Amino acid sequence: MISLNIEKTFGFISKASVAAYETQVKAAQEALEDGTGKGSDFLGWLHLPSSISKEHLADLKATAQILRDNCEVVIIAGIGGSYLGARAVIEALSNSFTWLQEKKSAPAIIYAGHNISEDYLYELTEYLKDKKFGVINISKSGTTTETALAFRLLKKQCEVQRGKEMAKKVIVAITDAKKGAARVTADKEGYKSFIIPDNVGGRFSVLTPVGLLPIAVAGYDIEKLVAGAADMEKACGINVPFAENPAAQYAATRNELYKRNKKIEILVNFCPKLHYVSEWWKQLYGESEGKDHKGIFPAAVDFSTDLHSMGQWIQEGERSIFETVISVDKVNHKLEVPSDEANLDGLNFLAGKRVDEVNKMAELGTQLAHVDGGVPNIRIVIPSLDEYNIGQLMYFFEIACGISGYLLGVNPFNQPGVEAYKKNMFALLNKPGYEAESKAIQAKL
Ligand code: PA5
Repeated sequence: MISLNIEKTFGFISKASVAAYETQVKAAQEALEDGTGKGSDFLGWLHLPSSISKEHLADLKATAQILRDNCEVVIIAGIGGSYLGARAVIEALSNSFTWLQEKKSAPAIIYAGHNISEDYLYELTEYLKDKKFGVINISKSGTTTETALAFRLLKKQCEVQRGKEMAKKVIVAITDAKKGAARVTADKEGYKSFIIPDNVGGRFSVLTPVGLLPIAVAGYDIEKLVAGAADMEKACGINVPFAENPAAQYAATRNELYKRNKKIEILVNFCPKLHYVSEWWKQLYGESEGKDHKGIFPAAVDFSTDLHSMGQWIQEGERSIFETVISVDKVNHKLEVPSDEANLDGLNFLAGKRVDEVNKMAELGTQLAHVDGGVPNIRIVIPSLDEYNIGQLMYFFEIACGISGYLLGVNPFNQPGVEAYKKNMFALLNKPGYEAESKAIQAKL
């Protein structure tokens, strides 16, 4: 099981102050369980891991197999919660250099629909010109501009390159059951489609088809992922005592740190494969808690890389931060530092040691230095990077986020602030229906 250690926050906050959250946390857990808290229409993720059926997983795996059999490349078109979960899991589990390998055992996974860069989309369509590709179009609303724009290009290219019949086979939609343009297109074209449940918001949707289908296409075991999440669902259940419940402890600790003016939480890894877990986590916590002019700012760094860039700020900058380190206990491969006769780099003192031992000492040394420098440290240990443990990690962060948002007093399940830029963009682009906004915004320029 993954484990949580909050000992290195106790120089900054007291054990008693964390323990004092017990009643509040219980109330937050009850609000989640009973659906009596803010945003209770969006609690479908809460018991999702333990309720996913074998039939559903089999359907996802069968669809994934069709894409695997017929595609060299599969594009995941989605943004925010409609792509970050899949990318987080796939990148955490993938060989760092798979994308460069000529002979692949699974289709290459590429992401689109998460930006509006003309160069990105041009280069993507160029790259796909001689490829047998398929598309998973993911959008809950079915109207998100970034995703719809990319899908429009990809659909056309797929139909021209692969023919309408094959396109029908290798384009899959994951969207709302009834509404939105993605649903209309899927039904009209006869695409295989999966439903994003109404009561699961984007950033909590990794264990719905939004995450599970792309992960299965990439060749990873979605049953193990779900099993890990289900075990974490038990470990973080409402009946688990506060002191033994990792989600409760994490939520309480970060809220207490926030109260003590630690306004920024930096999620740290020492393994570059976790970069997109951090991106996913940033969205989960940022979009859930950043409202009503409140909320910890979620930031992330990849160490030791960023120790050579952001390390200075973290060590000696404004003392408004705390770190949450995800530490991978066992790496998947073995590599020893070789000995060198000339020893010009002076590294022979490391000869024979595992590279991971060096990394672990960098991790420990960093923790001690940052704590000494005034940065409280939370540590999450994940036994290894595999489907089961990643499933645990993701559910842990989800449930902790729900509890934490309620402790903060916000609705963790809406995102009203995301609309502001869209409204301006549509007004600037003269979208029909935005005439008044267009006029108002032009007057501001
Ligand atoms: O978490 C969220 O709700 C958002 O990040 C959405 O997932 C994102 O905006 C994409 O929305 P949609 O799936 O409707 O295209």
